[in-house]
Amino acid sequence: MKQLNAVITGITASLPDYVLTNEELSRLVDTSNEWIMTRVGIKERRILKGEEQGISVLGTEAVEELLKKTGTRPEEVDAVVFATSTPDHIFPSAASIVAENCGIKHAFCFDMEVACSGFIYGLEICNGLIKTGKYKKIILIAGDKMSSITDYNDRTTCPLFGDAAGAVMIEPTEEELGIIDAKLHSDGIGYQPLQMKAGGSKYPASHETVEKAEHTVKQDGRVVFKHAVSKMAEVSLDIMQRNNLTVDDVQWLVPHQANMRIIDATIQRTELPREKVMINIEKYGNTSAGTIPLCLWEWEPKLKKGDNIILTAFGAGFSWGSVYLKWGYDGA
Ligand code: ACO
Repeated sequence: MKQLNAVITGITASLPDYVLTNEELSRLVDTSNEWIMTRVGIKERRILKGEEQGISVLGTEAVEELLKKTGTRPEEVDAVVFATSTPDHIFPSAASIVAENCGIKHAFCFDMEVACSGFIYGLEICNGLIKTGKYKKIILIAGDKMSSITDYNDRTTCPLFGDAAGAVMIEPTEEELGIIDAKLHSDGIGYQPLQMKAGGSKYPASHETVEKAEHTVKQDGRVVFKHAVSKMAEVSLDIMQRNNLTVDDVQWLVPHQANMRIIDATIQRTELPREKVMINIEKYGNTSAGTIPLCLWEWEPKLKKGDNIILTAFGAGFSWGSVYLKWGYDGA
């Protein structure tokens, strides 16, 4: 039998309607549009408002649309994987909630948490599942409701984040398409500089953790910045080299959208022309696991079967990595 590759056969995304602008943020904390645009490059971000609205709301919308778009019946789906750091609950999984909402009854469902690297780690996991030959249709959802873990009194973090989820259908193919290679890394040196301290088993929720705002993202921005800048470029170059890809061979680079300056540094170091790089941070901010599928979804009409695409991300852990994809279909 020929080797099976795992290929993306459809992509969707879901964004909340509410637009939180820099102007509105500057009424909440001491900041300005100018500071945020210069230091981070974000103009606005989407926020999921309302009571009892977890990330499964966006995941469900994305998966309902994905089933329609790919002509898939819910009973055909073998697995649902949700890469998120902001599940509705610690358990049950957001994946199982989304599956239930979408009538998916014959799939195994689980969440995986790798912060901003969730989508690329998820692709590698789904790649492994598809290669066993046992599964024909796997849905990978990736996204976060970052507004639920953002401290809107902290000007150093609140401009950065937004809410969104993307979803892809992954299927086997014998063609030379899909996930060709992945290079993933972790380094526990990232424990202190980037974390949400409380809410897990070490510091369960208490009055004190709530008072100290320890259920929100805290980071040493400069340390995170320094590591993200070098690692995203390094791993992108590594995977290109390992697959004998020159700058001319690559049609698209899709960097995690954390900060425009990190993206610029990745562009510079990989020497890819800017027009080959997907960038939408200005409109959506950092949606953590959601940024890469959100880019692919927006650029889908421009993608062509066989396009060589390099994805790269960096996030908490630290975790980082790169995936080399050969796109599976003409997007137009
Ligand atoms: N508005 C105005 N001033 C601000 C703001 C703000 N929103 N935030 C910080 N400042 C001030 C600081 O208080 C500081 O003032 P001071 O010099 O008087 O003390 C000054 O601006 C400079 O602060 P720095 O932290 O040095 O600013 P820096 O240029 O490093 O930018 C930032 C901060 C944007 C957080 C940057 O470090 C960064 O992007 N780091 C990467 C972090 C990241 O993206 N994390 C997301 C999760 S991980 C990931 O997705 C990769």
